[in-house]
Amino acid sequence: MTGTVLEVSGLRKEFVIDVPGKGKAHTLVAVDDVSFSVSAGGALAVVGESGSGKTTVARMIAGLEQATAGHVYVDGVERTRPRGAAQRLAQARQVQMVFQDPYSSLDPRQTVSSCLDEVLRLHHGGSAAERAARIHELMSQVGLDERHEGLRPKALSGGQRQRVGIARALAVKPSLLILDESVAALDVSIQAQILNLLNSLREELGVAYLFVTHNLAVARYVCETTLVMRRGQMVEYGTSDKVLRDPAADYTRRLLEAVPHVDWVPRRRTAEEMDG
Ligand SMILES: Nc1ncnc2c1ncn2[C@@H]1O[C@H](COP(=O)(O)OP(=O)(O)OP(=O)(O)O)[C@@H](O)[C@H]1O
Ligand SMILES: [Mg+2]
Repeated sequence: MTGTVLEVSGLRKEFVIDVPGKGKAHTLVAVDDVSFSVSAGGALAVVGESGSGKTTVARMIAGLEQATAGHVYVDGVERTRPRGAAQRLAQARQVQMVFQDPYSSLDPRQTVSSCLDEVLRLHHGGSAAERAARIHELMSQVGLDERHEGLRPKALSGGQRQRVGIARALAVKPSLLILDESVAALDVSIQAQILNLLNSLREELGVAYLFVTHNLAVARYVCETTLVMRRGQMVEYGTSDKVLRDPAADYTRRLLEAVPHVDWVPRRRTAEEMDG
């Protein structure tokens, strides 16, 4: 696996906020001159305290938010505001997002198979039989099986729902998966299973990750590189080993001190746990 899947340079986002009663607007700089890259099949963690701009960076890369300045290249092509539905779909096939709460991002009325089928129909077409085969393949990739295909989100556990969210994102074979606090809402033991799943999926499929988290132990478990942000700016950027074991910045050191279990490593998942 060679090359760069994502390159971000000079990224900036200003939000203009109305101040009620004052008749004037205030500009908040949420992201200020952020630059980094992710190699094909690589994994970068974006860490930092609440409000540091992590989600805003992720949303600009995914095309959910327009950057005030800067450039985003995916597979060597600059991401611009899509012109028309075809370009929007093509951009969505390159970068997919997995959200924190799979409950609100899955349609409660839709079964797992119809949720996946909808994505496949939209992006790839193909016969019903071809799509069914692909759904089986996706289910097994995320550790689910036919028994789960006919279920609605309410009938699934939190971990299973997040597996469906990951399957839906993988359905279009993206080069980059953006995961924004994607395990934060889960119990620690279920978190560990999902993190192990993400590690094996990356190995198996070569998909790259941009992994947004406030959990530094999780960052190091999944990602070989880490970017630390504070107040919209880059504080530190390098290998996770260096940044999280021997940080150069005081801010990173303080973040590390606030986490008692930075050496926490999930156990390998066992067969019974796969049901979680
Ligand atoms: N749509 C918006 N309008 C105005 N301000 C916004 C908007 N989205 C984010 N902000 C502001 O931008 C800053 C960065 O927010 P962001 O959500 O990127 O932080 P974060 O690092 O993801 O935080 P958290 O860890 O709590 O998720 C915050 O000050 C936030 O209030
Ligand atoms: Mg966020």
